[in-house]
Amino acid sequence: MQIPTRDAAVDRLEQLATAFMEAKILLAAAELRLFDQLRGAGATAAEAAAALGARTRPVEVLLDALAALGLVAREGDRYRNVPRYEDRLLESSPSHYPGLLRHRNRLFRRWAFLEETIRGRPLPFLDDLRDGLTDPAANENFIRAMYAVSHRHAGAVVDRIPLDGVRTIADLGGGPGHYLAEFARRLPEAEPFLVDLPLTLEVARTILAGSDVAARVRFVAWDFYEEPAPGGLPPFDLVFLSQVVHAEDDAKNRALFAAIAARIAPGGRLVVHERTVEEDRSRPAEAALFAVNMLAMTAGGTTYTAGEIEDWGRAAGLVPERRDRLSPLSELITLRKPGTATVSR
Ligand SMILES: C[S@@+](CC[C@H](N)C(=O)[O-])C[C@H]1O[C@@H](n2cnc3c(N)ncnc32)[C@H](O)[C@@H]1O
Repeated sequence: MQIPTRDAAVDRLEQLATAFMEAKILLAAAELRLFDQLRGAGATAAEAAAALGARTRPVEVLLDALAALGLVAREGDRYRNVPRYEDRLLESSPSHYPGLLRHRNRLFRRWAFLEETIRGRPLPFLDDLRDGLTDPAANENFIRAMYAVSHRHAGAVVDRIPLDGVRTIADLGGGPGHYLAEFARRLPEAEPFLVDLPLTLEVARTILAGSDVAARVRFVAWDFYEEPAPGGLPPFDLVFLSQVVHAEDDAKNRALFAAIAARIAPGGRLVVHERTVEEDRSRPAEAALFAVNMLAMTAGGTTYTAGEIEDWGRAAGLVPERRDRLSPLSELITLRKPGTATVSR
């Protein structure tokens, strides 16, 4: 009889159960801004520790683990970045990737107490996603994270949206403004409005500064889940709402859709871009996992089905027009306001 030496089921369970270690090593290094210490000829553990105001031994342990993961190189007692990752990991990276890592580190802290959240116990000592909207440092990481996650796909998403006749466009909760910039490039005559919370708009101004469309963008502060729309907005031919609704509950989104419908010109459209989940709520896997992220981070957020999003639209007088799934984390749901565009607009 052969004695089994491997247990594939346990191997898989162990792989799942220990994945947090590698993640946390990378996230802690990003939180400490350690990679900036390892530019050029790099640094010893003692030099890096002195720059961080930390003790040498823990920094050395972290650096050795980063070397083991191939994220930095060790030569003698010096550590330096490796070319493959350095561009992404330095604070000056145009990809804003360190912001994404620090945002994920904040998620990690709440994920660590997921079972308490599921039991319904409050975690007063930890911030939640809303603090990402009100705390300036957390907000900056959050908005840079949004850029890092999707700036490479933004053009391909916008290419799937019909833009005929669009003269006024609002990106609601547009974050860093990377989608709006893509719309503005394709619509040189249109007025592009970036609508978001004041702190986010500050970060967006920095990220958009120097872009070819920055001068055309109108920045509009509107807390659209809490306040009526500010005066002076035109009727919009197109409202884009990307990766916003999953952070709030059904009732708040229903109210938001009513407010949006009132801002859309007759014949205009609302395009929702979301991490939708199928009716069985477990496919795609990415969406089911993201629902846990919203459970950990928000009071009422979750992943929604395309049907639920269309229902909010119907209740607001909009007519579902089409659905386009672009990837497991990306579906476009288009709704149209009945009527015909008027020339005076
Ligand atoms: C997950 S980010 C998505 C950013 C961008 N639309 C994208 O797809 O990358 C959510 C955005 O909604 C904004 N937001 C959240 N609640 C808001 C509110 N009550 N009023 C205005 N903007 C809000 C946030 O500031 C953030 O920019």
